[in-house]
Amino acid sequence: MKTKIIAHRGGAAVKPENTLAAFKNAVELGADGVEFDVQLTKDGEVVVIHDEFINRTMTGEGLVKDHTLAELRQLSAGEFFDSEFKDEKIPTLAEVLELVQDLEVINIELKNFLPYPELEAKVLNLVDQFGIRDQVIISSFNHYSLQKLKKMQPEIKTGALMASKMINPADYAFKRGFDALHLHFLTADQEVVDKSHFMGMQLNVYTVNFPESVEELLAKGVDMIMTDDVEMALELRDKSLN
Ligand code: G3P
Ligand code: CA
Repeated sequence: MKTKIIAHRGGAAVKPENTLAAFKNAVELGADGVEFDVQLTKDGEVVVIHDEFINRTMTGEGLVKDHTLAELRQLSAGEFFDSEFKDEKIPTLAEVLELVQDLEVINIELKNFLPYPELEAKVLNLVDQFGIRDQVIISSFNHYSLQKLKKMQPEIKTGALMASKMINPADYAFKRGFDALHLHFLTADQEVVDKSHFMGMQLNVYTVNFPESVEELLAKGVDMIMTDDVEMALELRDKSLN
């Protein structure tokens, strides 16, 4: 089994996270896939950004949901990383999908602890517009949202994000019909990897930036490694295949 290397937030170690510059770079580096976060603007556009508050990664303040797309587009989404990227704007989901649509894996994380009532439907519509249902896996820490997705479209793959070391996470996810566990890498022991596979689910891990951890997780046979440092992880993965 070949573990897939996924550019977390597009590969946040080398480019400003969740920007078109990052996704372009991930494609050029040969990542197997990308992971990114989506939310809704005030006028209902699906945009790609991690935090609910814009101030860490953008040149403004307040919540994503309180700004229209046009307002957010006035701001820089790359300057926080380096002045070289000052012209990067917050991308829409459609713009990102346009760039990454040929990748093997497109992991869309719904960042929806805040209520975004139509986010699931809007994301599913865009996925179908691009014809990429087979490559997409939708993950979320909001498992109600994953259940909603499964009801709307049973074939869509879902990954249950978990941050703590849970008791029996594979049973939990299987019972709810999810397709994958998305675990913090420090909680992914051999038992949970094997049990997930036995139950027909993927075991994917985030966010793995230490080479020694990448090697350990490759040895455990996880399905996807999400990393900010795609070059490092690809090199180790490819070495492990020889
Ligand atoms: O989807 C895996 C990982 O991205 C979850 O954590 O905070 O980086 O979105 P976070
Ligand atoms: Ca994420």
